[in-house]
Amino acid sequence: MREVSREEAKRRIEELRKEILEHQYRYYVLDQPVISDHEFDLLFEELRALEEKFPDLVTPDSPTQRVGGGVSPSFVSVPHTAPVLSLSNAFSEGEVRTFDRRIRDLSRTEISPEYVIEPKIDGLSVIIRYENGILALGLTRGDGLVGEDVTANIKTVKSIPLRLREEVLGCPDFLEVRGEVYLPKDDFKRLNEERQEKGLSTFANPRNAAAGSLRQLDPKVTASRPLRALFYEIRVIRGIEPPRTEVQALSMLKAMGFPIPKYEFCHSIEDVVSRIERWREERHRLPYDTDGIVIKLNDLDVARSIGATGHSPRYQLAYKFPAEEVETKVLDIIVQVGRTGVLTPTAVLEPVSVSGSTVSRATLHNEDVIREKDIRIGDTVILRKAGEVIPEIVAVVKEKRTGREVEFRMPERCPACGAEVVRLPGEAAHRCTGLACPAQLKESLIHFASRDAMDIRGLGPSMVESLLEAQLVKDAGDLYFLEVEDIMKLPRQGKKSAENLVESIRASKERPLDRLIYALGIRHVGQQASYALAAEFETLDRFLNATEEELTKVPNIGPETARSIVLASRQESMKVIVAKLKKAGLKAAIGKSEKPAATGEGPFSGKTVVVTGTIAGMTRKEAEDAIVALGGKVSSSVSKNTDFLVVGENPGSKLEKAKTTGVPIMSQTEFLKILAERGIKVDGDRR
Ligand code: IVH
Repeated sequence: MREVSREEAKRRIEELRKEILEHQYRYYVLDQPVISDHEFDLLFEELRALEEKFPDLVTPDSPTQRVGGGVSPSFVSVPHTAPVLSLSNAFSEGEVRTFDRRIRDLSRTEISPEYVIEPKIDGLSVIIRYENGILALGLTRGDGLVGEDVTANIKTVKSIPLRLREEVLGCPDFLEVRGEVYLPKDDFKRLNEERQEKGLSTFANPRNAAAGSLRQLDPKVTASRPLRALFYEIRVIRGIEPPRTEVQALSMLKAMGFPIPKYEFCHSIEDVVSRIERWREERHRLPYDTDGIVIKLNDLDVARSIGATGHSPRYQLAYKFPAEEVETKVLDIIVQVGRTGVLTPTAVLEPVSVSGSTVSRATLHNEDVIREKDIRIGDTVILRKAGEVIPEIVAVVKEKRTGREVEFRMPERCPACGAEVVRLPGEAAHRCTGLACPAQLKESLIHFASRDAMDIRGLGPSMVESLLEAQLVKDAGDLYFLEVEDIMKLPRQGKKSAENLVESIRASKERPLDRLIYALGIRHVGQQASYALAAEFETLDRFLNATEEELTKVPNIGPETARSIVLASRQESMKVIVAKLKKAGLKAAIGKSEKPAATGEGPFSGKTVVVTGTIAGMTRKEAEDAIVALGGKVSSSVSKNTDFLVVGENPGSKLEKAKTTGVPIMSQTEFLKILAERGIKVDGDRR
């Protein structure tokens, strides 16, 4: 580069920044680039070189500052200026009309509501603040009250302006906007292909990929992902007249340099309904995933007067399209044997892409389901993802039958051990009766070692298989007598890994009683029940000697579970395992493990609680476990016996049901507050 004076450099740097910002705006917001990528790169390179030469001229809003420096140890929590609400969902035309009627009813004056509709972008909600036109803070939604500071990562997203455009509106003193960060469908595919080639795990869907990319502690990783963003809401604006309508808000956002979603103005609810119909197909042509259409009242003054519930505004609604359905073929139906001996038929499918991932298997649950849907090997079937995750065969396309399809029959003998298969009266499942069925044994050992049970690291399915094959273990008790030398004899085992395994088995001797009870894998005894049982009986012996009557007195333990426990504990094989566990000195087996953290007494004592939607920072199971730990009983559906419905993000139809049946609603915030007061930790980092 020729010699340039500081003055000259300063002028050129400013010129370049302006030019680059203009091109980025044309590219990301207007979708009308006027120069080639190569020409753009040359400008960018020139700026970078000048800034390198004069580092004191670098400013935080320079386009070069998107690459992200530094790694944050964790994300800092920042309170939101006002609660970041969610949307209520509708699944039918009727609900859309009810929404309109409600707005008319709630409005103080006679109105004919007008609406704006936008695609519901399946990404990650972000809140961004600008101070005097410069991007100052980027937050995730978090729990709606407190978000995580992801500023460094937000700055790497090229479609998000680092500095607002001032030409049209001037510069607001303060601005807070809300939008959605997403990964375009094509880029998602490419990213997954690249990751697969590199032997890395792939992302299940674009949303997860976007969330995973934005929540990176190293902003360089975020910068390497082709994230995009769209903005749809001005939350706070100072120094400039706020928008009066939704249409105006969108045009202001655009003028300030934000990319906005494709939107349509609707002069009535009729108009909304007919346009939604068009979007049903049209949405697949958008470059990003959408699962619905957002309907927004255009008049923001009326909107404000109508207000919001703790969860969602009353003047906006998400209309959700039903899950995508595709056709594929059933190539085979195979049978898998679980740890309790249940035979589960599974359809092997011609691989097909549905709702963002490739599916080649679908569980058929049991024989009745197959009969009911009349699924045969060779059939063409309609497949969808239940709740957008679990592949499910909805129906058979009978018109496509050729006559060569083969009906499925449950095997009379267990495919793993050859023992007789029975179907007990009143049960849908077929079971293997083999006492030493290798498939059952294998599954029960995998369960015993799993994370929620004894958490024995290094003892996954393939290690369990090797141990069984070498006949080193016959049950879970034998694990505790394995020696490094035994394991080293197995294929592909070195000294170090053998030592590690023995060490993690040893470490699992410390696990508390509830984990051990769960690990034993007794039918009907899940984690919640194990917790309650451990809290009640305190030692393994007392638990195993309990009568049905004593067991049914424990919260959440019904007669069926009690019977199953008594049956299991009287079995010879259980006695043998327990003797080994005692001999090995497992704390929980010899009565030395501490009591579970909570005693089962608490704000939910004796209450039946249902959860809908996702609770910030916890999985559904963690939320339910917390309820049980605080004395409650969890049920999966709302009925007149429900005491509370805990409502998380994106609640399902249970919320409507609760409203119509008058079941009290507890917000996620209230719920989290109760947990916090009781010292139950919520790990916001895992989402
Ligand atoms: S408006 C008060 N518009 O969908 C809620 N949301 O629960 C204001 N979303 O968390 C949201 N596309 O992150 C709105 N065009 C759109 C949207 C959108 C996606 C997300 C948003 C929200 C979730 C619904």
